[in-house]
Amino acid sequence: MTFTDVKTYFEANGAQLADLSWYDLYRLSPAEVRAVSTSLQTFQRGEGTGGDHLMALATKWSEPDYAAAMQLFIQEEEGHAAMLGQFMDQQGIPRLETHWLHEVFRSLGRPLGLEHMVRVILTAEVVAAVYYRALRQATLSGLLRQICHRILHDEEMHLAFHCLAIQRWGRDRGRLSTWLWQQFYRGLMAGTALVVYAASHRTFRAGGYGLGRFSHTIAAEYARLEQMQQANGAVVQRIVPQPPCAAQAPLFLFSNFVSQSTFK
Ligand SMILES: [Fe+2]
Ligand SMILES: [Fe+2]
Repeated sequence: MTFTDVKTYFEANGAQLADLSWYDLYRLSPAEVRAVSTSLQTFQRGEGTGGDHLMALATKWSEPDYAAAMQLFIQEEEGHAAMLGQFMDQQGIPRLETHWLHEVFRSLGRPLGLEHMVRVILTAEVVAAVYYRALRQATLSGLLRQICHRILHDEEMHLAFHCLAIQRWGRDRGRLSTWLWQQFYRGLMAGTALVVYAASHRTFRAGGYGLGRFSHTIAAEYARLEQMQQANGAVVQRIVPQPPCAAQAPLFLFSNFVSQSTFK
């Protein structure tokens, strides 16, 4: 995989309209609102993080098509924020202007240059990938489940894109330096995961992710990404499986029946 491949993929992926059931009549139940509204506000704000600083750093790296791919990556993240925001508007869940987690990530990512910023973003993306799986299981809203599925699909290439860049940067680094940075970012991953879990535990629990399952899933996912970052690691994009069948989510199908849509 090259950055040109990533750019081409993002162009094609962005050209496909997210054909979501915006006319779905399903209203979140009070229990669902309690379970998902706070985390939705947090993640919607985080997805919309401005990419100006990231773009400025990316354009300085003279790797063919890296900056172009980064621009498209940022656009996809802004698209995620827009989708979540529109859903929140429909459900009467207020959008946040700012959030302390968002500010923490902004300040963590800035001081050490492009590689560090990408690694901090990757850390957030790993947690987000588990969050959207949990959110998808925590609601019977067909529309929200579609949004989660769409984001999970997009995130797979985001992870591959960042791992490809980290793999390139690691080529010229010595073993000790590589090991030390690896420990640092593992620590950052663990700390980030615990903080986000604490802030959004209602959604994780409602989606079947107790702290044990959550921690195990994060560790497995991070180990997979570390493999991709190795000098000879294969950078691959997984296929996101379709959501559960009718027997597991009858009301979800009912809400889809109302909206006369199919799950993408
Ligand atoms: Fe995203
Ligand atoms: Fe992402």
